[in-house]
Amino acid sequence: MSSASLTDNRTVDVDRLVDRKLVLYFYLASLTYLFISMLGGLLMAFQLIRHNPLSGIEIFSPGRWRMVHTNAIAYGFLANALLGSMFWAVPRLTLRPVLSRLLSWFIFIAWQGVVLATAGGILLGQAQGLEWGETPTWIDPVALLGLALVVLNFLPSIVMTKGPLYVTLWYFMAALVWTFLTYAMGNFMPEYFVSGSAAGAVGGLFIHDLVGLFVTPIGWGLMYYFVPILLKKPIWSHGLSLVGFWGLAFFYPLQGIHHFLYTPIPMFLQYGAVISTIAVELVVASVIINFFGTLRGSGSAFITNLPIRWFYTGMIFYFLTCLQCAFQTTLTFQAIIHFTDWVVGHAHLVMFGVFGLWIQGIMTYLMPRLIGHEWYSRRLCEWHFWLSAISLAAMATDLIAGGLVQGHVWRALLPWDVSIEASMPFWVVRVFTGLGMFAGQIVFYVNIYRTFQLAQQGAPEAAPAARPALVGA
Ligand code: HEM
Repeated sequence: MSSASLTDNRTVDVDRLVDRKLVLYFYLASLTYLFISMLGGLLMAFQLIRHNPLSGIEIFSPGRWRMVHTNAIAYGFLANALLGSMFWAVPRLTLRPVLSRLLSWFIFIAWQGVVLATAGGILLGQAQGLEWGETPTWIDPVALLGLALVVLNFLPSIVMTKGPLYVTLWYFMAALVWTFLTYAMGNFMPEYFVSGSAAGAVGGLFIHDLVGLFVTPIGWGLMYYFVPILLKKPIWSHGLSLVGFWGLAFFYPLQGIHHFLYTPIPMFLQYGAVISTIAVELVVASVIINFFGTLRGSGSAFITNLPIRWFYTGMIFYFLTCLQCAFQTTLTFQAIIHFTDWVVGHAHLVMFGVFGLWIQGIMTYLMPRLIGHEWYSRRLCEWHFWLSAISLAAMATDLIAGGLVQGHVWRALLPWDVSIEASMPFWVVRVFTGLGMFAGQIVFYVNIYRTFQLAQQGAPEAAPAARPALVGA
């Protein structure tokens, strides 16, 4: 049992505040959608090298599966994993349970309904023409209601916390409100209230805010929670952590239009997006400095402690992807890379290289605690990490390089086929790197399954002293 003291000197058993089964179910759902999404990614990747294994079957057409791929990542993989992690962290930080256990399970079931209905709707041809908002029209209000219930479930225990709020809770609180507003803006405004280039501008804000005001604050909030626990020391600077939070709050919402430079959207909005994107890079630097400052003196944990390795590798990718962003947002750079695979490389670097890696690190740490048994195999944990990290780095590098080649071929005004043929080697490499990422997940699933089996058999665990500190304290 782990306990914590309240300000009035009472103690509370924090373990009992968390519904472990619920967290586990969120994680299993998240991993299921990741599996489906990766299959969709591979299907498209094979099609692009003219080896579509399911050619001619409409329901498996790569155009539809591209949308399933991205939607399953955002609303299936990321949302489930982040919600599950919040169900673990919030009661522990606030020393209170969430509003209602019943509501929590309802949210879990309803959210799976929303994700499955979205995928089904897309496959049956009901997708809306809005990037990341392809969710069929009738599901939008249901999803928004679901998000309102999420806010209702978490917010009271955060707001009722006594004393100064730890930075993780700042991030969570903001993310809950921002996500609701972002979803409402992106899914209803272009549909019912604005049209033309104004709808484009709102669409740009929506796709970027979904990453920056939903995934990013919850992701960083979780890092502020797990890193000090694993390193057994406080975060380096609380001042810097607030600079990071308010910097994100101020600059991030202005950025979205950088997706639509050189469009009929007014130039002052485009310039505003460029400047705020570069400003965010400075904010990101402050957050990264804070985390590496925390690691100082505990550098060996980067090698010996696997969740820490996942987290800090993700942070390195985060820095790289934001640096890349500061360049690619300039009009000079955009003229070459817009519409090319550079952007796809960037998307994989941030979605899997950062948030995917953080989630896998959190799961590597929490799964044994949720299943009730140490990992079946530490070697498989290592394989999971190396296959994922190396394949992702190779895929991103390959697509970024491929994007530069495509951009230059287009600028030379060569025929379209020339750019396709020039892209082919890069697309072949993508298939292999994708298979590497997929293999990393299979290894993870096997490890989870075998760990479940050990827990069910009641197999004894190795004595703590004999265990390397691989997956945390
Ligand atoms: C088996 C591994 C994967 C393969 C083979 C793969 C392949 C692809 C392909 C072919 C596209 C479409 C590119 C285009 O339209 O030209 C794509 C898009 C995308 N994928 Fe993946 N993917 C994989 C895993 C992932 C993972 C794990 C994530 C996130 C966690 C992810 C996030 C995305 C995103 C965000 C896009 C949209 C990019 C954009 O619109 O710029 N993918 N992927």
